[in-house]
Amino acid sequence: MRTQVGIIGAGPAGLLLAHLLHRAGIDSVILERQSRVHIESRIRAGLLEQGSVDTLTEAGLGERLHREGLKHDGLELRFAGGNQRIDLFGLTGKRVTIYGQQESVKDMVAARLDSGRPLLFEVSDVALHDIAGEAPRITFTHEGRAQELRCDVVAGCDGFHGPSRAAMPPEVLRVYERVYPFAWLGILAEAKPISHELIYARHEDGFALATMRSERLSRLYVQCAPEEDVANWPDDRIWEALHTRLGRVNEGPVIQKGITAMRSFVAEPMRHGRLFLAGDAAHIVPPTGAKGMNLAVADVRVLARALTIFFREGDERLMDGYSATCLSRIWKVQRFSWWMTAMLHRFSEDDPFEHRVQTAELDYVCGSEAARRTLAEQYVGLPFDE
Ligand code: FAD
Ligand code: DHB
Repeated sequence: MRTQVGIIGAGPAGLLLAHLLHRAGIDSVILERQSRVHIESRIRAGLLEQGSVDTLTEAGLGERLHREGLKHDGLELRFAGGNQRIDLFGLTGKRVTIYGQQESVKDMVAARLDSGRPLLFEVSDVALHDIAGEAPRITFTHEGRAQELRCDVVAGCDGFHGPSRAAMPPEVLRVYERVYPFAWLGILAEAKPISHELIYARHEDGFALATMRSERLSRLYVQCAPEEDVANWPDDRIWEALHTRLGRVNEGPVIQKGITAMRSFVAEPMRHGRLFLAGDAAHIVPPTGAKGMNLAVADVRVLARALTIFFREGDERLMDGYSATCLSRIWKVQRFSWWMTAMLHRFSEDDPFEHRVQTAELDYVCGSEAARRTLAEQYVGLPFDE
């Protein structure tokens, strides 16, 4: 099999890249390890920056997103027994939208299948070859048959644990990492959200977040120990922690429960030869700033444009600038995600100094228009710098 761009991974990064390339007349093949049902039901991120919504809309993927997505003009910070609203729209003129990642994935899978171009599910043994040269190959097994995909470019969109980053020679790859001493326990519950906006809470017991998927579905998170076993968190314990940290929340049947580890991670550079990494394959942010999927979208915008110019005109300049262009945004978003995480979580068991400094920082952010604007313009998403 031969194509122009071999895409490994059908998460938001791989699917959006395939879609943008198809609209530019560029052929691709997507190889995905999981089944369609699996990727369409995996509950992950939920918040889209205005720029991500605009990107999906311009790409013709916005119809259901605009119908079902919940537009938010502000958010609440809850700490020291009080509650402060950050007026995102008033401060920036931009909004954020709640729309489950798996819903975007469904829209993009449907668009891909409509295009008639290949999206292979349940592939195994994916391996990259000859990435340093101009004729890279991907070998894999599909429906019991060993196959080879020859391409001009490989896009590694295979998430944090995929084979693409590992295929880069260790001597060219630099990794920057921070692992946090806590995790998030997240639930999806059939319960009316307590507020129509998101609430981020800093409490002596730890962080909590109240978000939603619809007017009848709450998505709730509590900070927990890093190696926590979900079995240690029966529903009663979760509701009690949520009531303590957020104030009263509406209870209802818990229909999903899971633990998300917290890390900051950046791999540099994001390109080696004809292999380009995008999304979680190259970087991970702690979820406090809601940036994971938005960064994947931002990378793919830059990559789709660079590849379009390359295939149309043979001009490699944007490809050469891909890594630096993406990393400039990624490090700003890393800093923001780290800052939000540091301000809102409990790091140590017993450190009254830390608690007071965090309260002072939250107080300052809420009391200063300049600080509220700083938070707001990063939360709604920095402008694309292309
Ligand atoms: P992914 O969505 O990970 O997609 C990568 C794809 O590659 C997957 O479909 C995978 O199956 C496939 N793949 C992997 N290995 C192979 C292989 N060998 N061969 C073929 N295919 C392969 N962000 C937030 O902002 N808020 C959240 O609440 C939040 N929750 C999260 C919860 C979890 C459990 C996880 C893992 C992530 C969460 N994120 C969250 C982060 C966000 O979901 C990611 O940043 C986003 O999915 C990145 O998209 P991606 O396409 O780069 O990677
Ligand atoms: C959601 C997740 C986040 O990590 C966040 O900061 C905001 C919203 C969500 O799942 O809706």
